Amino acid sequence: MNQDALKQAVARAALDYVKTRIDATSVLGIGTGSTANYFIDYLAEIRDEFAGAVASSEASAERLKKHGIDVLDLNSTGTFDIYIDGADEANERLELIKGGGAALTREKIVAACAKEFVCIADESKLVEQLGAFPLPVEVIPMARSFVARELVKLGGDPVYRNGIVTDNGNIILDVYNFPIATPRDIETRINQITGVVTNGLFALRPADVLLLSSAAGVKTLRREN
Ligand code: 5RP
Repeated sequence: MNQDALKQAVARAALDYVKTRIDATSVLGIGTGSTANYFIDYLAEIRDEFAGAVASSEASAERLKKHGIDVLDLNSTGTFDIYIDGADEANERLELIKGGGAALTREKIVAACAKEFVCIADESKLVEQLGAFPLPVEVIPMARSFVARELVKLGGDPVYRNGIVTDNGNIILDVYNFPIATPRDIETRINQITGVVTNGLFALRPADVLLLSSAAGVKTLRREN
């Protein structure tokens, strides 16, 4: 099975998982990226069985709308039931790196409002230590150089993601060569740099469930409290 087939398999498993947890009043949070896109496409099959969805990006909102799924404003829904999204890396504590698709800030906001965060990924995303994938940091444009210098002080090699403007009008610095031994601490420290909107570590609000696909099938990992 190639990686694309594994993404489809885990997206299909996520649909089965979601079906057991929703009713006509349920609001779903929807992530961004290729795995999330497969999930959106499958979700269309049950579009009449829930109230609507909050999207973590303009791209996902468009895709949901094309399938006839109502896109809701997070300010109106408040806390909602379940958020489904992919990841660039996950560890066994279900701490994540996200933001490969530059949607990290809205993803973090949507995750913060979800009672349950279900991460969907293929087995290549499971790592012992986060940080082989360059950590995305969303930055206010005028703070780009300042934030880059501060990230160097923390030990990383920040690289400007050329040509990318986030849905919030900001830029992305990807931090290379930055093994992350203490994800909660690093998430907090980077977020304290003036000019940072947020970074792609999801350790303070990790996933609750990780559906992980491999050639052998999809397994379910749950976060231990
Ligand atoms: C977007 C994300 C994605 O969830 C992450 O990049 C994984 O993407 P894909 O499912 O395409 O591998 O965080 O900002």
